[in-house]
Formats: sequence, structure tokens, C-alpha cells
Amino acid sequence: MPFNLKGRSFLTLLDFTPQEINFLIDLSAKLKADKYAGVYGDNLKRKNVALIFEKSSTRTRCAFTVAVIDEGGHAEYLGKNDIQLGKKESVKDTARVLGRMFDGIQFRGFSQETVVGLAEHSGVPVWNGLTDLYHPTQILADFLTVKENFGRLKGIKFAYTGDGRNNMANSLMIGAAKVGMDFRIVTPTELFPADELVAQCNEIAKETGGKITITASVDEGVKDCDVIYTDVWASMGEEDLIPARIKQLKPYQVNMEMINKTGNDEVIFLHCLPAFHDDETAMAQQFPEIKEVTDEVFESKHSKVFDEAENRVHTIKAVMVATLGK
Ligand code: CP
Ligand code: NVA
Repeated sequence: MPFNLKGRSFLTLLDFTPQEINFLIDLSAKLKADKYAGVYGDNLKRKNVALIFEKSSTRTRCAFTVAVIDEGGHAEYLGKNDIQLGKKESVKDTARVLGRMFDGIQFRGFSQETVVGLAEHSGVPVWNGLTDLYHPTQILADFLTVKENFGRLKGIKFAYTGDGRNNMANSLMIGAAKVGMDFRIVTPTELFPADELVAQCNEIAKETGGKITITASVDEGVKDCDVIYTDVWASMGEEDLIPARIKQLKPYQVNMEMINKTGNDEVIFLHCLPAFHDDETAMAQQFPEIKEVTDEVFESKHSKVFDEAENRVHTIKAVMVATLGK
């Protein structure tokens, strides 16, 4: 069933009903099929979209850019050194200026308050491309990938292992509760997510038939699961925590032993990327033990990470088309 999301901002999945989230995932699948068939819409024709990035990005930046152009619009990249925001101009003033010129605004950065402020004061739809607290567009791509593999979201056993209180853990937990998954966060007790958010997700899960488990036990957390997910052990802006996180999270690394512990040969591995799994990057060379997933798993038949990365463009397109399209 179609839902009218015109004019809405996309700041956190908490603002969307289960039906609206499922609608966005179904719309993504349709837009993906259309693109594969060579059919391009013009839903964003003559729309100008601002892309503000305080933090770096490959997937999110490229997905927003390609999605806007696919639908006939224009994307303008505004990096942290390109605009006055944060140095000479407030969020409120920036929002009021950009809202006069652009039809929609993407923001990636540190504070959730910034993206909320942009939405409050710009008068146009604002999309959260990642903050310290949430990464909601990523969840749509993750869930589209799950649906492509299992045909459903409800009842899927989904284990997230690693840093249990970062933007990915928070957003996956909200999304999983909304769509009725059996969701587990597998992390040491000191990295358990905020009690308040867990309580909120438990309330949502009661309505949807979902289940939320927070556990320090890998055996309990990954048992029978359909999906194993992980993320970097230290998020952007937390680089000074890397040595401590290696010690805390080494037992939570996704490796073949963990895959085997699921007891499910069809289990899929997902990661929002970028991932530390080999020795190719400067940071991996500086911290050889940083790997949250082994190369063996990353390159295995279980890994669907590049389907998931591609799905960023189809899902982000769906969000823009639904909230801004004609
Ligand atoms: N997954 C994700 O958001 O990737 P980027 O940081 O490259 O945008
Ligand atoms: N938790 C990671 C996600 C990157 C897509 C970060 O914030 O750096």
C-alpha cells in the first residue's frame, strides 16, 4: 500500500511507522528493478538537493548524488570546509538560507541536534546521512538486502556484534523492532546500548511481534541466526579509542568460528562498510589487530556486503522520491 510521505524529513526511524518503513523498502525494490530494466523516472526533475558532509563518506555521498541524477535532479556537495556552517554561521541561519535555494538537504555529521535543527528551520525535507546517534538510510539498504535473500523481514533472526552503542547498533535496533525481527546486540556489558533506547525498542517490538536481546554472550547472541552484522569498532571521531576497542571487541570479531556457531549454513554476513578486514589501508597497517571481520568471512559466500552497498542508492532514491518527488 502506498503511503504519502511528501514533505517529511528522514531523521530517525523512530519517526516512521512499520508500514511506512516497509513501503520505503518496497519502493526501493521497485526503483531498483526499474533501473535494471533501463527505466528512469523524473521524479526529482528540476529539484536541487544540498549534500552537507562534516564527516567523510563514499557510499552515502555517491548514493545521494547518483540517485538525484537518476531521477532528473541536481546534487550540490557541500564539504565541511566549503560552507560557513559551524564556523561563521549557525545551524538555524544555514537552514534558512539553504531552504530558500534547495528543495531538500542531506546532512552527515556529528550531532543529531544539527540535523534536527536543519529540519526545523529550513522548511524543506532533510535526510540524515549519519550522525553520532543514528544512520537511518543505511538500515533501509540493510533490510532491502535481507528481504532479497529471505523474502521477508518479520521473524528474521538478526545478530549485530561489535560496538553496541554506536549509530549502527541504535538504528538497527529501532528498525528491527519496527519490522518485527528477533534482534540481538552482542557486545561487552560496558558497550551495551542506552537503557532508554532499549526500553523504547522493547515497547515497539511488543506491538510488532519483534524481540530485542542485549547480551555479552556470543554463543547466545548468534545461535540460529539468519544474519550476522558488524561495524567498525571505533566510529568516525572516536579514533583515539581504537587501542581500547581492540581489547574489548576482539572476542566479538566476525570469523568462521562465529559463522559456524550460528548452526546455519545459509547465514548471511552484512556490514555497512567501510570495513577493516585486510591489511590494505593505512589504518589497518597502524593497528593490525583492528579487524572486526576476517578476510575469510568478508570474501566468503555468506558475505552480501556489496549488494548491500549498491542498495544504498536504491533506498536513498526511494527516500527522496517519497518525500520530495512529484
Ligand atoms: N555505509 C556508509 O555510510 O558508508 P560511507 O561512510 O562511505 O558513506
Ligand atoms: N559507525 C560507523 C558507521 C560508518 C558508516 C561510523 O559512524 O563511523
